[in-house]
Amino acid sequence: MTEPFPFPRDCPYDPPPKLARLQRDAPISRVRIWDGSTPWLLTRYDDVRAVLADRRFSVDPTRPGYPARGPAGRARRRGAGSFISMGAPEHTRLRRMLITEFTPRRIAALRPAVERTAAELLDRLTGGSGPADLVGAYALPLASTVIADLLGVPYDDHEFFEERARVMVDDSASGEANRAATADLARYLGGLLQRRRAHPADDLLGRLSAQQVEPGKLDRAGAVSMAVLLLVAGHETTANQIALSVAFLLRNPGHAETFRQPDGPPATAVDELLRLLTITHTGRRRVATADVPVGGVTVRAGEGVIAAADIANRDSGRFPGPADLGRTPNHHLAFGHGEHLCLGHHLARLELETALTALLRRLPALRLAAAEEDLPFRHAHPIYGIDRLPVTWN
Ligand code: HEM
Repeated sequence: MTEPFPFPRDCPYDPPPKLARLQRDAPISRVRIWDGSTPWLLTRYDDVRAVLADRRFSVDPTRPGYPARGPAGRARRRGAGSFISMGAPEHTRLRRMLITEFTPRRIAALRPAVERTAAELLDRLTGGSGPADLVGAYALPLASTVIADLLGVPYDDHEFFEERARVMVDDSASGEANRAATADLARYLGGLLQRRRAHPADDLLGRLSAQQVEPGKLDRAGAVSMAVLLLVAGHETTANQIALSVAFLLRNPGHAETFRQPDGPPATAVDELLRLLTITHTGRRRVATADVPVGGVTVRAGEGVIAAADIANRDSGRFPGPADLGRTPNHHLAFGHGEHLCLGHHLARLELETALTALLRRLPALRLAAAEEDLPFRHAHPIYGIDRLPVTWN
């Protein structure tokens, strides 16, 4: 019988054991998803990477056979999509408009501002006596502030945009809820973009307006979709990665010490956390547009594929040995691979490294203020992580 997917985890920091078994015994197999369809599930590093690098596998959720994550994924079929769900040449054209915003140099220049934000949040946190929720008091406000400042979105509106983003990335939400949240955010960001016309500003929305919309290279709807994508992709993921990494490091104090070294952690440390925890844990979704051989089977045109990056990132052929924060090279797939490689990956690394280093140095006695088995891990959510992380530090 075809296995229902996704599978349950045993340990909150490891992929489901069934994924590991399939990787060993049946690395390419069919699974049954929520709508009854039976896409291919790929679990080996080489196969996952090959599919993500191959343009014959489409990200377009409007194509028949695309393995949507839930009803909300289906709802998106009818909405105006952003470039994360487009193929070349349109994807390439739109993504290129943002490339200069996310170069290593541009992102490195944000370091002082990110460090300042982390320090201010820690001042506020330690101003209280604890315990406190590290997601609400640190991980989420840090990630939201960084992306809001970069775009030119007022952080004061964070409750509004965080709430809408939460619904948008929750594929178990109804199609109607998804459309309403997307429309709210589009109206809001459309208003901010509109204001940039009369009041130019040196922020990403301002530059998008002046350099792309005004000269007619991008229509207003396209600019709004782009802004929605950046705002949403830019904080939910990073906030969860920070919080889950803290929980993992509190369970593994030896690794936590790496972030307390006088010269800071090695540049490799956050990539190992990204690899181990791979928070986008329900697989990269694609549909074949031609018959393509993959690792011994032929995926036929119109068949769906789930490229399970979380278990591919544990493929011992590629990543031998136990967790190693000094691992190099570390070509993990936590940010995807190929033309849809996460646009914000340098920014996400900067935030993760800054957030963990500042927190662990400032609070040497940081520990959980709840039993680990009571922590609300986001098992059913397409972005894995943790909803609340009660900690204390005295
Ligand atoms: C795409 C993960 C942070 C913006 C992606 C993809 C993954 C990912 C796996 C590929 C999707 C696919 O192939 O189907 C993550 C993780 C993050 C993170 C794990 C944090 C730990 C960010 C941040 C931004 C961002 C901070 C800021 C703008 C984007 C965008 C795309 C993307 C725009 C679409 C790229 C494209 O389709 O060309 N991300 N991301 N992400 N991410 Fe991230």
